[in-house]
Amino acid sequence: MNITFRQLKVFDAVARHLSYTRAAEELFLSQPAVSMQIKQLEDNLGIPLFEQLGKKIYLTEGGRELYHYGHAISQQLEEADAVFEQLKGLKKGRLKVSVASTANYFATRLLASFSKTYEGVTVMLDVTNRKSLLDQLEHNETDLVIMGRPPLELDLVTEAFADNPLVVIAPPNHPLTRESHIPLKRLQKETFVVREFGSGTRIAMERFFSDRGVRLTTGMEMTSNEAIKQAVEAGLGLGIVSVHTLGLELETRRLSILNAEAFPILRHWYVVHRKGKRLSPVAQAFREFVLTEAPKLLGTT
Ligand code: PGA
Repeated sequence: MNITFRQLKVFDAVARHLSYTRAAEELFLSQPAVSMQIKQLEDNLGIPLFEQLGKKIYLTEGGRELYHYGHAISQQLEEADAVFEQLKGLKKGRLKVSVASTANYFATRLLASFSKTYEGVTVMLDVTNRKSLLDQLEHNETDLVIMGRPPLELDLVTEAFADNPLVVIAPPNHPLTRESHIPLKRLQKETFVVREFGSGTRIAMERFFSDRGVRLTTGMEMTSNEAIKQAVEAGLGLGIVSVHTLGLELETRRLSILNAEAFPILRHWYVVHRKGKRLSPVAQAFREFVLTEAPKLLGTT
């Protein structure tokens, strides 16, 4: 077998996107250059890696095998890179951080002040929902994750650093804003605008209501907290969001927090990485930075 790391990297991108065009965009290459690398790889291996059905491409069985091994090799290379970084110290390096959509309300500010201290560090931030954070951890695709309660099934190192209270929001003219103690059963009469499946907020609110035997009527489903807040403001229903997503909306009285029984739902923020992962000095420094600075930023010290 005579294949290069470069070819593996190109193959990995095409296999992830199942698109030559998107792989080319990711790698800053032209589409013909990507096709050529794949062709050479197929010639070297003597098997086809993709098949085209209609307009779509799919991995062949051989392609799936190579994806599995290629992915493991790239992760190992990244870890080796991190070790070399360690030898070079903290002046330079790359940090891959992935955060829950809801955590982005403070994570960006944290990264900004971290970057001021460590100017040579290049940060790659991915903002996504809980489900894809778990996929990234499982496939070792990120250094550190900031998320809500991590699952016990994965082998993770998890450290809680701040509270994350979830509250019920309503438009300021909603009749429930005048009530000082809203029984949970009363909320059954309302429709809730909810986050998408895979969101930690969504899972937490569903668990909260089902544990208390309260039926929840869900209306529109949205993939961002911003969309939820705007929908609630527009009168499409009530919403449940983290207080960390609210700021100006409360000050400018565009949204109100309801005094509902048993609320807020108490969640916590965690900084998480895979057990056994060798954190680079930069990742280690960021982990410590989150543990000390985030509680100050969120006012939960
Ligand atoms: P989410 O995660 O942005 O996916 O809802 C937040 C959380 O887990 O609390």
